[in-house]
Amino acid sequence: MKNPMLSGIATQHVATLEAISAAKERRAGPGVTTVTNVFGPSHKDVSPESGQSRHEQVVFCSDEQSGLRAIIAIYNTTLGPALGGTRFYPYASEQEALADVLNLSRAMAYKNALAGLDHGGGKAVIIGDPATDKNEALLRAFGRFVESLSGRYITACDVGTYSEDMDLMSRESRFVTGRTVANGGAGDSSVLTAFGVFQGMRAAAEHAWGAPTLHGRRVGVEGVGKVGHRLVDHLIEDGAEVVICDVDERAVERVKTRHPGVEVVADKGALTRADIDVYAPCALGGALDDETVGRLAAKIVCGGANNQLAHLGVEKQLAERGILYAPDYLVNSGGVIQVADELHGFSMERARDRATRIYDTALKIFGLAEEEGVAPAVAADKLAERRMSEVGRIRGIWLGR
Ligand SMILES: NC(=O)c1ccc[n+]([C@@H]2O[C@H](COP(=O)([O-])OP(=O)(O)OC[C@H]3O[C@@H](n4cnc5c(N)ncnc54)[C@H](O)[C@@H]3O)[C@@H](O)[C@H]2O)c1
Repeated sequence: MKNPMLSGIATQHVATLEAISAAKERRAGPGVTTVTNVFGPSHKDVSPESGQSRHEQVVFCSDEQSGLRAIIAIYNTTLGPALGGTRFYPYASEQEALADVLNLSRAMAYKNALAGLDHGGGKAVIIGDPATDKNEALLRAFGRFVESLSGRYITACDVGTYSEDMDLMSRESRFVTGRTVANGGAGDSSVLTAFGVFQGMRAAAEHAWGAPTLHGRRVGVEGVGKVGHRLVDHLIEDGAEVVICDVDERAVERVKTRHPGVEVVADKGALTRADIDVYAPCALGGALDDETVGRLAAKIVCGGANNQLAHLGVEKQLAERGILYAPDYLVNSGGVIQVADELHGFSMERARDRATRIYDTALKIFGLAEEEGVAPAVAADKLAERRMSEVGRIRGIWLGR
């Protein structure tokens, strides 16, 4: 194995790996390496909250002919089968891909727990450029690896993968969701992601200003792609003033055509310096760095982007500046709620009902944070951990069959 991090682990756990290797070949066939319970202190750099980095299972998948190189990480299955999307991304190295999938799968465990789903946390990454490396054989080969896990991991869309890709994977595996509507799927998950972000923002408005509405407030939306442009629709309907920015002219044009009154600014710098009440990061991760937090005029941050806090401690800086931060993985859980519902025969009404509850959970978290004198991000983690522990424990009750 080329990756020095993995070589180190393999040396420390030769016995474990040898013990599982025979079973591994029987279970998953050639091309799969299944590494179980081997993550120790060497992964603290990947997930700094020590003690939280012990993933249940990490699977390396390779199919030379189609060019597939993928990693599936299952953080936990405490609440049920691990659920999380597959990211198709041109990682610079295997190590970078591993770090990403370990972090993302852990975050999914927290997101699913807080969303009230009976799912553990998992995620997959495919190493490559989706624009040039994606092909039918590769996606179907990946589907077979997902199937080989017998339902311990259920995949869906993420950056670089779409419902059409899920359709192809689902021809090889039962454990694929987020398929196209034509194929019995829930379709584009950004519909309920945007709706959920809006519910979180209403709760933040209630907590900060005493009314669950953005009416008359100025909201800055960074990134008006799939999630962002739908969020703008909700905001306009609610009577908010909206300011947007995006690096893609076409994305800006789409919003301007639907809502000519929306103001456009050049970039994130201009948006976060503007006189706005709410900042909604809906582009890439890491939006909340020291510089941005330092200059932000907004009193609320609530957006759809994943991993908004650039580093640990930003949540405290936000609180110190009196800015209410709605935890990203709570407010953007509408998408996973949508694809989880598909596993039971999709009902938009049922999924939407569940996504509406993001409002109540957000209010609960803001209240808990105030009560305990911690940042909402910390309170959200606590609540998710509590559910994993309390609901996870009941699985230990012997059913007698
Ligand atoms: N789609 C979902 O259901 C979903 C669910 C949960 C979380 N998210 C997260 O929400 C975010 C947006 O997802 P999406 O599905 O809308 O993706 P998208 O690619 O459709 O939209 C992202 C938009 O951000 C713009 N952008 C990129 N860099 C920018 C920059 N520096 N400044 C301004 N705009 C920039 C892009 O041009 C694009 O229009 C991502 O972080 C994603 O991980 C999405």
